[in-house]
Amino acid sequence: MKALVLSGGTGTRLRPLTHTSAKQLVPVANKPVLFYGLESIAAAGITEVGVVTGDTEDEVRATVGDGSEFGIRVTYLRQEQPLGLAHAVLTAREWLGDEDFVMFLGDNFLIDGITSVVEEFSASRPDAHILLTKVANPSAFGVAEVAADGTVVRLEEKPEAPRSDLAVVGIYLFTSAVHEAIDRITPSARGELEITDAIQWLIDRDFTVRSTLMEGYWKDTGTVEDLLEVNRIVLERLRSRTDGRVDEASELVGRVSVGRNTEIRNSRIIGPVVIGDGARIHGSTIGPFTSVADDCAIIDSGIEYSIVLEDSRIEGVRGVEASLIGRSVRVTGAPRTPRTHRLVLGDHSTARISA
Ligand code: DAU
Repeated sequence: MKALVLSGGTGTRLRPLTHTSAKQLVPVANKPVLFYGLESIAAAGITEVGVVTGDTEDEVRATVGDGSEFGIRVTYLRQEQPLGLAHAVLTAREWLGDEDFVMFLGDNFLIDGITSVVEEFSASRPDAHILLTKVANPSAFGVAEVAADGTVVRLEEKPEAPRSDLAVVGIYLFTSAVHEAIDRITPSARGELEITDAIQWLIDRDFTVRSTLMEGYWKDTGTVEDLLEVNRIVLERLRSRTDGRVDEASELVGRVSVGRNTEIRNSRIIGPVVIGDGARIHGSTIGPFTSVADDCAIIDSGIEYSIVLEDSRIEGVRGVEASLIGRSVRVTGAPRTPRTHRLVLGDHSTARISA
């Protein structure tokens, strides 16, 4: 069995953060979202992984490499334009051959991994197998109608009037039957070759499409709020470790991970918090639920429930919360202020905030 990981597309909802950077590479708990997916594929025993890329291919290649770090072998498959999930499969057609495969959307985060569903699929080999989960806002997803035995009877992509609250999770298992379906469908109203339409094509021709209702945590990380929530969920499982230097005037409360060559002085860190390598935290309060990447400086500031990417500097600003701060950003204090700040700052931006 192979795995096809989709890391193309455009991250419009995360602009300006993903203007230059792939949305699948935004880190949660200091690790790109995409890595959690690759780890769960490796854990399921799959070693041949095709990564579909678009405009951000260089960055994805530089970050993921040949996959050996994960115990997998990565082949990059360039999709010239993001013309839909089924189009991504079409792009990978030759590489996939006639093998069964799991398709994993690179911006999806799944706490439970995919091992059990891969085993279930391999044992019973329906033509397709999808994962479903109950959501409060089904209109934002593919929506399924399912018979009592788990057979899928109907699928609709982002319907205005959803017929159920069962959203299609971005992990799909296919036999080679899907290729014929993709050859037969036409682009949707939004101009994309939809994988939901390909699966519906299979259903209409009496191919077997099964589903598993997922209970564990799942998130399609399309927005800043989603990323902050996934960050919280991952940090809830964090183990404490201190590889850096923490002075006596500082206090680490709860589960805190401090990277190598990081220096914490006169600060209070309220876990769960992860701080990367080579960071400087002076006179600040950090946490809970905050990830600070490598080489950041947080000086005389306060930040909680936030993600800060590499090489950023926050100085003289208290009350930063629910914020996602890009790489090499400068945030500094300025006179007169509101009490809290919600920030979405792209890579290399500079913000001056009264504090
Ligand atoms: O997350 C689950 C949802 O994913 C499902 O419920 C929907 O049925 C399914 O269509 C999909 O909806 P999204 O609108 O969230 O898909 P998005 O355009 O965000 O693309 C998902 C991932 O696939 C993302 O990592 C980008 C990548 N992608 C997307 C397209 C359209 C590609 O690599 N190539 C593409 O052409």
